[in-house]
Amino acid sequence: MSCILIKEFNNHYKMKEAIYQHLKDVDSYTINNSAELEEFRLKYLSKKGILQQLFESFRTIPNEEKKEIGKLINELKQKVEGKFSEIQSKLEADSTENTAIDYTLTPVSMKLGTRHPLSQVRNEITSIFKTLGFTISEGPEIEDDWHVFSALNFAEEHPARDMQDTFFIEKNPDILLRTHTSSVQIRAMETQKPPLRIIMPGRVFRNEAISYRAHCIFHQIEGLYIDKNVSFADLKQTLLYFAKELFGADTKIRLRPSYFPFTEPSAEMDVSCSICKGKGCNVCKHSGWLEILGCGMVDPNVLANCGIDPNVYTGYAFGMGIERITMLKYAVKDLRMYFENDLRFLNQF
Ligand code: DAH
Repeated sequence: MSCILIKEFNNHYKMKEAIYQHLKDVDSYTINNSAELEEFRLKYLSKKGILQQLFESFRTIPNEEKKEIGKLINELKQKVEGKFSEIQSKLEADSTENTAIDYTLTPVSMKLGTRHPLSQVRNEITSIFKTLGFTISEGPEIEDDWHVFSALNFAEEHPARDMQDTFFIEKNPDILLRTHTSSVQIRAMETQKPPLRIIMPGRVFRNEAISYRAHCIFHQIEGLYIDKNVSFADLKQTLLYFAKELFGADTKIRLRPSYFPFTEPSAEMDVSCSICKGKGCNVCKHSGWLEILGCGMVDPNVLANCGIDPNVYTGYAFGMGIERITMLKYAVKDLRMYFENDLRFLNQF
C-alpha cells in the first residue's frame, strides 16, 4: 500500500514538473511558417498530442492533487491554443499581403483621356499653319482700348466699344476683356520687325446671351503675315491650302466682300460644306457653303499705328472661331456642349 502511494506521489510530482516544462517550451517555441505551425499542432493539440496525454494521465492522479494539476493543464491548454490561433491569423494576414499585388500579372492597360475637341481642332489648325512657316504667339486676355479697338482702326462710335458688346473692367482709361484675338496682331507688330508670319490662338469674351450658337466666352485663331509685296493672291492661296488640309482635298473656297475696320479690302471666306459635299443640308442651311473666317489686307492705318511703314510693307490677316469650325467639322449642333464636360460628348472625340 505504501509502495503504491510513493509511486502515485512520484507520478503526479513528475507530471507537475512536466507541465511546467511544457509551459516554458510553448513560450519559447518559434513558428515561422504554416508547416511549422502544423508541427506545433500535431505536437500539442492532436489526438495523440501532449495535451491529450496529460488529460489521460490526469485521471490516474489522486483526487486531492486534481485541483492543482487540473489548473496547470488548463493553463497549458489555453497557452497552446492561444499561441496556435495567434500565429495562424498572423500567417494568414501575411499571405494575403503577399498576394495583394501579383507582379507577374499582365498589366491591365489604363484608359487614357483625350484632349478637348476645341484643343484638338486648335492644334490641328495651328499645325497646318506651322507647315507654312507661321510661328505661334499669344497675348493677354485683359486688354486696353488701344490694342483691342483704337490701334485696329475702330472708329470712336463703333458699336463694339459699347458696354452692350464688351465686358469692361474699368472705364477711363478703358480696361476690358478682349473681344477678339486681333489685339495680339497689334502686340506682335509693336514689338517685332517685319517680316512677320504668326498664328495667334486664344480665348475671347463678348457680352452675349448664351444660346446653342453663341457664348460669352469662346476661342479664336488669328493669322498675320507682313512683308514686302504681300498680295491678296497670297492670302487666297494660303487660305485655300488651309481649307483643303482641314476639311479635305476636294474642299472649295469662296471669298465674299465684307468689312472690318482693320483690313482693306476685307472678305469673308466660305468653304464647300464638308458634310453634304455641297449638295445642301441642315448644317449649311441648304446653301452648300459654310462661312468660316474673316480676312483681308491689313489696313495701312493699322501698320502705321504699330510703327510699320505702309509704303514699304503690306500684309494680310485673318481670324476664325474655333467653336464654329469644330461644329462644322464634327456636326456639333449645340455650342454649349463644349463647356458642359459631359463625358458622353467628350468621349466621341
Ligand atoms: N476679329 C474679327 C472678329 O472677331 C475676325 C477677323 C476678321 C480677324 C478679319 C481678322 C480679319 O484678322 O482680317 O470677328
